[in-house]
Amino acid sequence: MMLDLFADTPPWQEPLAPGAVILRRRALSVAEALLADVGNIAAVSPFRHMVTPGGYTMSVAMTNCGNLGWATNQKGYLYSPVDPQTANPWPAMPELFLDLALQCAKEAGYPDFLPDACLINRYAPGAKLSLHQDKDEKTLSAPIVSVSLGLPAVFQFGGLQRNDPLQRVLLEHGDVVVWGGESRLFYHGIQPLKEGDHPATGAFRYNLTFRHT
Ligand code: SIN
Ligand code: FE2
Repeated sequence: MMLDLFADTPPWQEPLAPGAVILRRRALSVAEALLADVGNIAAVSPFRHMVTPGGYTMSVAMTNCGNLGWATNQKGYLYSPVDPQTANPWPAMPELFLDLALQCAKEAGYPDFLPDACLINRYAPGAKLSLHQDKDEKTLSAPIVSVSLGLPAVFQFGGLQRNDPLQRVLLEHGDVVVWGGESRLFYHGIQPLKEGDHPATGAFRYNLTFRHT
């Protein structure tokens, strides 16, 4: 029997779509430190359930760090330098976040990525993110870098049309997905989180998405 010494040795890459790749367990070695930073950020700009322009309260709780943060208001979605809840600037992006995002983007083929925003999502059991495109950024040449921490979740990844066929992939603690180029505007979402108890995050899943607005 031939032993493949490299299969399943973290981290490893899995192609997802043109321009999109999963860097499995890529963030595992720094997960604890990332979560400590998330705690510090949330102590300043707390997680909150934003309300969409349509009046729907999102099941995912969110906060941000970086020069700009994603937020909703009655008119739509926007990137704001100020946290609308605290009226203060969003917490700065920790160096560890920036380093990780740059490195992952580079490994995925995007060496020029320089994020100015990081949206932090917190999923409790049942929380989901309906199929959507990330299209509030002006710089569509920049990829999205997405880091998963804690409980596993099913990530749906489709195409340019809402009704294109969906791939469903389980994202686990430390997994990083990078999508850009041809797939930058592909529809994606997260299926309702299943209950669980993760050693690093308890009953939650966290996701960091880095964007260049
Ligand atoms: C997002 O689409 O912005 C987040 C996806 C995720 O939570 O993995
Ligand atoms: Fe998204």
